[in-house]
Amino acid sequence: MTVRIAVAGKGGTGKTTFSSLMVRHLVEKGKTPVLAIDADPNSCLGAMLGTGQCQTIGDLREDLLKGKDDLPAGISKPQYVEMKVRTAMAEEDDFDLLVMGRPEGTGCYCYVNSVLRTFMDNLGEGYPYVVMDNEAGLEHLSRRTTNNVDAMFLLSDPSRIGIESAARVRDLAIEMELNVKHFHLVVSRANDGDALKPLAEEFGFDEVNLLPMDPKLQETSLDGTPLMKIDSRSKAYRAVQDIAKRHIPGM
Ligand SMILES: Nc1ncnc2c1ncn2[C@@H]1O[C@H](COP(=O)(O)OP(=O)(O)OP(=O)(O)O)[C@@H](O)[C@H]1O
Ligand SMILES: [Mg+2]
Repeated sequence: MTVRIAVAGKGGTGKTTFSSLMVRHLVEKGKTPVLAIDADPNSCLGAMLGTGQCQTIGDLREDLLKGKDDLPAGISKPQYVEMKVRTAMAEEDDFDLLVMGRPEGTGCYCYVNSVLRTFMDNLGEGYPYVVMDNEAGLEHLSRRTTNNVDAMFLLSDPSRIGIESAARVRDLAIEMELNVKHFHLVVSRANDGDALKPLAEEFGFDEVNLLPMDPKLQETSLDGTPLMKIDSRSKAYRAVQDIAKRHIPGM
């Protein structure tokens, strides 16, 4: 059984930070290998995780479309796509990173997309945990790559607009029947959950999880230290550990 975790919400609220710290925690708990998926076209999950550059699914899609890589003999197209996706991943000791990259251009991608989607649907198999970091906003939901999720964390800043947009992502995911088992609001750069509770309840969240303001995160974003290496006493990291314990199956 694969546990699928998705992270979404408004721009700049801490989605990639939260995703990276979650990957790190899963690795530390020995839930390996973890599959990290960077579903943001302006990707930077790899930088936060400290991996090297890798080929993106977007590049692969273009290559397949151009037929640039002629199919080798004795291999079916789906097998070939799977092989290409596997080689496109950045493989670290305890986790693999798949970068979705740019969205499709204007050609006819139907066939390529359907082959890719079939593969993506089964991609988590073989990984106990998958963590998907999404781009800001709602657009990614319509691509339906974020379906069959056990826990979706909706990141927000401590503002009405932030919590409202988290609720909008939740409502659209429900409307589109993306099959998300649980939604959890996570407010970043906030220290007082009780003060936010009435606002959260107004938008239908019965609980406020906090990713507290953490000076260590500011330091790492300035000097570029990957979050896999952040001080384990970091407040934000400890908060992610606590959230995982309460909301992620098997943790
Ligand atoms: N709790 C926090 N304390 C201090 N700094 C934080 C906190 N949460 C996020 N940050 C900082 O805010 C910046 C934006 O965070 P991050 O890149 O994780 O947001 P994002 O939601 O992924 O943004 P985008 O929408 O651009 O993908 C980073 O520099 C990060 O270090
Ligand atoms: Mg991000």
